[in-house]
Amino acid sequence: MRIIKATDYQELSHLAADFFIERVKENPEVTLGLATGGTPRGTYQRMAEDYYKNHTSYSRVSTFNLDEYVGLPADHPNSYHQFMKTHLFNKVDIPAKQRHLPNGVASDITSECLNYERLIEESGGIDVQLLGLGSNGHIGFNEPGTSFHARTHVVELAQSTREANARFFNGIDEVPREAITMGISTIMKSKEILLLVSGEEKAHALRQLLHGDVGEEFPASILTTHQNVTIIADQKALSDVPHG
Ligand code: F6R
Repeated sequence: MRIIKATDYQELSHLAADFFIERVKENPEVTLGLATGGTPRGTYQRMAEDYYKNHTSYSRVSTFNLDEYVGLPADHPNSYHQFMKTHLFNKVDIPAKQRHLPNGVASDITSECLNYERLIEESGGIDVQLLGLGSNGHIGFNEPGTSFHARTHVVELAQSTREANARFFNGIDEVPREAITMGISTIMKSKEILLLVSGEEKAHALRQLLHGDVGEEFPASILTTHQNVTIIADQKALSDVPHG
């Protein structure tokens, strides 16, 4: 695992955007795995700025998002479909047919999960997967206790995750209880992974990832066994890591 230390969130976002822009320039047909949440917003903003200034083209790029809330239609303001439009898709030129997120209102959620997994496989798999880190160690919405063998599936969101995400809603009661998420096994099949960790509230989780044991009670721990992981973390996130 390669760890890149950033001074603050701004630098982290800059470095992460450069990482993606480089991958897109190297391979204009790259398949990107994308994340939502607070952490990648700055990265997407930087990518959008670069697109505006330097015209890095995403016209042949395909994307697969990690997750979507069950019960929120694509046009719901808090759906991850909308998040991606607001923060990235409306700002760069990835064609709509090449952008994928699970359908949180599919009539048959089990088929939707299988179908999503099939689409990823048919696209040749994910080349570079972006991840954020949950304070409880979740990646995607794979909460503690999720099997490392899981593929795309439905999860019940942990109370701590609903509380953390309530900031995006009008209170916790509006936060859905379930989500569709790529599984740990889906994530681990990505050829390369970029994990972004920012802020004091992630310091404990980052310490556990770097210095704890590998086990399903801390899902992100599996990343230490992947061949090609880069972590970009800011000083606050590294504040609990020995010699961080
Ligand atoms: C988002 C996702 C989650 C987040 C994690 C951190 O698509 O899958 O695992 O990456 O909850 O969220 P933030 O960045 O809001 O701290």
